[in-house]
Amino acid sequence: MKDFEIKHKILQIIENDLGVDGKLQEICTVLKASFEHYDWVGFYFKNGNKKELKLAQFAGKPTEHTIIPFGKGICGQVAISNKNFVVQDVTEQDNYISCGFAVQSEIVIPIFKNDENIGQIDIDSHSKAPFTKADEDLLEFVCAKVATLDLVY
Ligand code: SME
Repeated sequence: MKDFEIKHKILQIIENDLGVDGKLQEICTVLKASFEHYDWVGFYFKNGNKKELKLAQFAGKPTEHTIIPFGKGICGQVAISNKNFVVQDVTEQDNYISCGFAVQSEIVIPIFKNDENIGQIDIDSHSKAPFTKADEDLLEFVCAKVATLDLVY
C-alpha cells in the first residue's frame, strides 16, 4: 500500500464504530502489516497523573515494558522532549530499553492533545536504518488523527 492509501485506511478506522480501543488496535495491526520494516507497533499513553507511560494497544510480540518512567528509554525521553525520536541503530543509544535482541532500530512520535504530550506511537524494526522522512510524516498524521479520539489515559 502507498502512503496515501494507508492514510485513507487510517481515516476509515478513525471513523468506524469499533470504539477507541478497537480503533487503536486496528491502527497497530494495519501499520504493522503494511510495512516490512515495522516489526512491533504500539501506543503508550501517559498513566494518569504519574510521570510514566503505560502501554496500550500494540501489534507484535508482547513486551514486559508495559510501564516506562518519563526519561527512561527512547519512549521516556520523548515523553519529556516532545520531539520525534528516530533511532536508526539502537546499539548507539545508552538510554535505551531493549524489547528483544532482534530489534535494531526504533521510531517514536509524540501525540499532542490541546498542546499537551499525552502519549506516543512506538515502532520497533528488525532492520538497520530503515526509517525515512516518509515514516515521520505518516506517523505524525496517525498521531494527529489519534489525538481526535476520546482517549482515556
Ligand atoms: N525500546 C523502547 C521500549 C519500548 S519497546 O520498544 C516496545 C525504549 O527504549 O523506550
